[in-house]
Amino acid sequence: MNSFILRLLVGSSILINSTFALAPKKIITIGRDLKEAAFPIGKSNYKQSLFENDELSLMEVSENDLERISHLAHEKFNRCGGFVVHEDQEKAWSEVDNQSLRLSAQKSLMVDYAINQQNTVNNMIQEVQETNIREVILKLSSYKNRYYKSQTGTESSLWLFDYWKNLVAHRSDILVSRYKHSGWPQDTIMVEIQGKTDDKIVIGGHADSIAGWWGRDRARAPGADDNASGIATMTEILRVLVNGNYRPTNTIVFAAYAAEEVGLLGSREVAGSFKENNENVLGVLQLDMTNFKGSDWDIVLMSDYTNEAQNKFIGSLIDTYLPGLAWGYDKCGYACSDHASWNSQGYPASMPFEAKKGDSNRHIHSDRDTLSQSGDNADHAQKFAKMGLAFVLELDN
Ligand code: BES
Ligand code: ZN
Repeated sequence: MNSFILRLLVGSSILINSTFALAPKKIITIGRDLKEAAFPIGKSNYKQSLFENDELSLMEVSENDLERISHLAHEKFNRCGGFVVHEDQEKAWSEVDNQSLRLSAQKSLMVDYAINQQNTVNNMIQEVQETNIREVILKLSSYKNRYYKSQTGTESSLWLFDYWKNLVAHRSDILVSRYKHSGWPQDTIMVEIQGKTDDKIVIGGHADSIAGWWGRDRARAPGADDNASGIATMTEILRVLVNGNYRPTNTIVFAAYAAEEVGLLGSREVAGSFKENNENVLGVLQLDMTNFKGSDWDIVLMSDYTNEAQNKFIGSLIDTYLPGLAWGYDKCGYACSDHASWNSQGYPASMPFEAKKGDSNRHIHSDRDTLSQSGDNADHAQKFAKMGLAFVLELDN
């Protein structure tokens, strides 16, 4: 071997080694199937978990492993996450022993799920307009991407901030704010309609989008369904409440989270700060992907990382106020969206979803996630806006 090639080899191996040596350690919980594929027993990269149960492994991995795992999740299991990065071991442990689920179940025992606001709800849901939802989807998906670290990711969230501020401009009891995160520029945008009590009802969805493996800050990621649709649905719920001059008993919070697509980062900080401030949260509704009708069912309630009693309540709301719609239950199989952040703080959360998981929009996380995949309309999302209104109005009273 000539010395040039030798130097090149030595040089690059040093480079590789030092990259690995410098990579910080991360604590993750990961689905057992994915763990076993990523760290196969008997292979040189086998790694033992700190803890395992039937579904989950809790492990310490290097940052480099994360990219490899999410690649593998895509390739082998045709999904994109399948693992959650935790701030520290203690937080990871609280997920595996399900303390949070117990807490959330206890909390929701104290919530009144009676349905008795027929007049208000029927009046308000008539006001929902498909065109408004469509327009917000088109606007958000016109940004090159809404990646949490990109320029357009910041700009798109600021656009939403202004748009929401405008919607509520004439109401001094409504505050629109930018929740700043520590590690990246994209803010979570929040609206608070101050109620007579400080107890909270939270409607959330993620405002970021993602696509591509290389240069995600440059890749085209319209994210029309994932998740401009959820943000547009929330916006219509807000518009109808405000235009109907609704004055809530409890405080209604809207949250357009930053940085969901990179591991639920934004919502984890928001839900964590609610917990830290000892906030009482009556219920959390997550709207992530509402505009692709892939199944016979119109609305699918994800049964994992969510609160069972609240899910049943939402089912009854659909039967009561949207009697033509079909609904049922499915599972994500992992902490697939921001509801999991609230659930792990012990708050009752639900995730009504556009289709059965296997029938959902296949074009997400690519440059093909445009409104044209949904026939250039927001008919499906409109149902979620009505359901969301019923949720707020009935939980509030
Ligand atoms: N909207 C998706 C979640 C989703 C996708 C639910 C398909 C059901 C069907 C969300 O934005 C997302 O992409 N989540 C990640 C996980 C997250 C922890 C990074 C995913 O599903 O891979
Ligand atoms: Zn996504």
